[in-house]
Order: sequence, then structure tokens, then C-alpha cells
Amino acid sequence: MLLDRVKPLDAILATAKKKSLHRSLGALQLTLFGIGCIIGTGIFVLTSAGAQKAGPGLMLAFIIAGLVCIVAALCYAEIAAMIPVAGSAYTYSYATMGEFLAWTVGWALVLEYAIAASAVSVGWSGYFTGTILNEFIGLQLPAWLSAGPLALGGAAGGFVNLPAFVIALLITWLLMIGTTESARVNAVLVAIKVSALSVFIGLTLTSAYFDPDKFNPFLPAGIFGGFGTGVGAVGAAATIFFAYVGFDAVSTAAEETKNPQRNVPIGLIGSLLFCTVFYILVAAGAIGTIGGQPIMGPNGIPFPAGSEELARQCAMPEHAEALVCSNEALAHVLRQIGFSGIGNMLGVAAFLALPSVILILLFGQTRIFFVMARDGLLPEKLSEVHPKWKTPYIVTGLTGMVVAVAAAFLPVGQLADIANAGTLYAFLMVAIAVMLLRKRAPDRERPFRVPGLVIVGPLTVAGCLFLFLNLPSAAMLVLPVWTVIGLVIYFGYGRSRSHLGQGIVEVVDDVAGEETMIPIHPPKE
Ligand code: ALA
Repeated sequence: MLLDRVKPLDAILATAKKKSLHRSLGALQLTLFGIGCIIGTGIFVLTSAGAQKAGPGLMLAFIIAGLVCIVAALCYAEIAAMIPVAGSAYTYSYATMGEFLAWTVGWALVLEYAIAASAVSVGWSGYFTGTILNEFIGLQLPAWLSAGPLALGGAAGGFVNLPAFVIALLITWLLMIGTTESARVNAVLVAIKVSALSVFIGLTLTSAYFDPDKFNPFLPAGIFGGFGTGVGAVGAAATIFFAYVGFDAVSTAAEETKNPQRNVPIGLIGSLLFCTVFYILVAAGAIGTIGGQPIMGPNGIPFPAGSEELARQCAMPEHAEALVCSNEALAHVLRQIGFSGIGNMLGVAAFLALPSVILILLFGQTRIFFVMARDGLLPEKLSEVHPKWKTPYIVTGLTGMVVAVAAAFLPVGQLADIANAGTLYAFLMVAIAVMLLRKRAPDRERPFRVPGLVIVGPLTVAGCLFLFLNLPSAAMLVLPVWTVIGLVIYFGYGRSRSHLGQGIVEVVDDVAGEETMIPIHPPKE
């Protein structure tokens, strides 16, 4: 009963045909697009939280999280090339597992995109207050205005993160009036980010401060800190997974790609591999120069990242310079090793480039809501397009408000953990969808086939589950609570209004496009 409303694949594919975007993207552009979505707060800011969880084992954490993302990316490559339409994991699930599970995926994607946008806003705020206000203008924003008050399971010590709130609203406004990022702007921002990270790697790895002893002990909190504790190398992997989030955006460009069979997998895997190597080198440079040992609690377990206890420890003079205490980790490292000016330039690079990651994430979120609303599962008013701006301004504005409020009140590490919980669920469902489609529709055209899916598919599912179980328990709990809220909305609103439930499928994918209704046989209740 619950799983019977499966959207016919033919109707979805008709969307792609109708849209028929010009196929202009090549492998390099796709890879650049992927890198533009991927590099952000994860590496520029969460390096501190990762080190607090794992110490030098952070490098191992980058490898573990990167491997899970690479197998997931292979699954995305197959399904995105096969069903190249908007809605990403939500649409794929609708076509394979039915409306009910698709709803849970779409609902979890809110965590991936909206809460991730909040996390990147908080990350940006660290560089804005540290580099722009403090270093350049000489203004010290009081602590109560530069950090939120809440933390899952405790208080984080601030009152409101004003810069994070403002940047989230500013980006929302840009999206509402129709701003999109051109490929050229993306390429410039990618160049800025990659140059900043390359300079960082070059200066730290060749620095006189670099000392192999700084990697000792390599795993101060062990490899496995225990499920739900969020510490140890795998606990850090579950958090630092955030640094890779966003590569799935490449899959949304499948329809605009020349020779998607070759280029989509290259774009997905290429951008991920590139970032993985960079991330490991950045972690090595940061830890090898200024050290990255966690601040341990009385029981020999690291204080939770983003907690009030850690904030108190970081306020003590002996920890003032610690990597794990910095809100602008990479700039801080360069300043510590005698490159203050270049550290500030890196701060400016983050200040300039992070807003584009917020924009991409928020854009992704509004488009998923838009597709869900057009399927009848959310109020159609939400998907109303502004006559002048040609954007779904209502859903964009509402989403932006929520993103801004979350950014104002929660710490970056915990926002990232919550976003990761939703993302891991979506990745897991995509892997299942790929395996199901191979069984159900073995003869359908697949521009790209995952090699060895019998291994890669279950490995993706297991990897996502494993990382999920290694998130801190409070972040893990958010997903089921969020899902229950979603189910109340589904059964209270969406299920009875679903277009598919009423026997109609729209085959339009373009926000401002015309709609065509295809009547189908209503599914049996
Ligand atoms: N991967 C993106 C970041 O680290 C979301 O900011």
C-alpha cells in the first residue's frame, strides 16, 4: 500500500526530452563545477573540529570519508546519466521506491542542502570576523554577536551569529531576484580556492616549523571512538564528510553534458579525487606545523567539538593558539608560522569563495522543494514563480529564513553533522535505487554503468550506514525526529493531494516552463 506510488520512468524521461537543454558541458567544466560545489567550509573551517575529534588521525578521516563518497559518486553517475532531471535523489527514489520513500528522501535532502547552507554561512562568519573585521578593520566583534547560543546537548556560549545570519539572508535575496552563478564566475572562484589551498600546502609542507613529531600520537582518540560518540578517526570522518558534500550537484548537470557516459563519471570522480588529495595534504600541512592534538576531557576523551566545555578550554591562554580552537583554521596556521599577510589573503579567499557554496546549496534546496511542490506533495503556492524575477521566490524566501535562523543559533560542526545525517541517508537510497533499477529495468539504456555494482552498491550502503552511526548521537537523532515531522506533513497534507495519487504526472522540469499533464492510471490504494 505504502510503496505502490511509483512514478513511471517514462514520464520522468519525457521531462528530460522536453527540456532538451543544449549539451555544452565537457569533462573539465563538470570537474570545475564539482570542485566549486565541494571546497568550502569543510576544509577551511571544519579542519579544527576534525582535529579535535581525531588529532593527526584527521588525515585518515579524510581518506575514509573520501572513499565512501567515491563509491556513492559512482552510483550517482549511473542514475544521473540515466534519469537526467531535476530533483536528484528525490526523483530517483520516486521512480524506483515510490512516493512514500521518495518523500522521506526529499525531506532528508532539506538537511543536506538547507542545513549545509547554514553550516557554510557559519564557516564564512569565522573568516569574516577573524580576517576582515579583526585583521583588516581592527574591529573585534563581541563573542555574543559572533556565535550562536545553542549546541545539541548543551549551550555553546554566544547569543547570535550575526554575520552568518546576514550572509544567509543576502544570498537568499540574490537567489530571489534571479542571480545564478555563471560558469565563468565559478571558474574564477575555483581558481581562488585552489590557489589558496595550494599556497597553504606549499608553505606549510616546506616550513621550518614542519616537524614529523607533531603527528605523534597519530590516533590520540583511537580509530573507532564508539558509535554515537563522534570521536576517533571514524568519528572525525563522519564530520569531515561534510567537506565532500556537494559533489552530487554534478549529477544535476548530466542533462547539459556532452557525452554524459564519459563526462559525468569523470566530473564526479575527478572532482572528488582532486579534493581528497588536496584535503589530505592540507591536513598534513596544518598538523605538521602547529600540531593538531585534541584537548582532552578528564576521562581521556576529547571534549566535544562546538561544546561549551571546549569553548571554555579554548579561552585559556595555554590553548589560545591551538588549531582545534580556531574559527578560521587555515588562516590561523599561516599566521602562526610567520605568514600573517598570506594568512590574511587566504582569509580573503574564503571570504570571497564561501558565499558561492551557500548559493549553490540554497539553490539546490529551493529546486528540490519546487519539484516536490509541483508533484503536489507541498503546497503549490510554494512553487509560484515571480512574474519579473522568474524564480520560485516564495520557497526561496522561506527556505532562506530557516537557513539564516539555523546559522544564527547553532555551531558550525553540529550543523555539518546534521547535514551529513541527511546526506548519508540520501546517498544510501540512491545506491539502493541503482541496484533496484538494474533488476527491474535491466534493458533500459544506461549511458554509464557502475563497474562491479554487486560490490560497489552494497559498499555504498554499508559505508553510509557506518558513517551515520559514527556521528555524535544527538546529530544522529535529528534524522528520525525530522523524518517523523516529515511524515506528519506527508500524511496530513501531501498524500491526499499528490498528483501521482490523483493520476496525473507533470512532465516539465523547467522552473518557468510550460506544464504538460500526462494522465496515467491512478494507482490502486
Ligand atoms: N563541501 C562543502 C563545504 O565544505 C559543502 O563547504
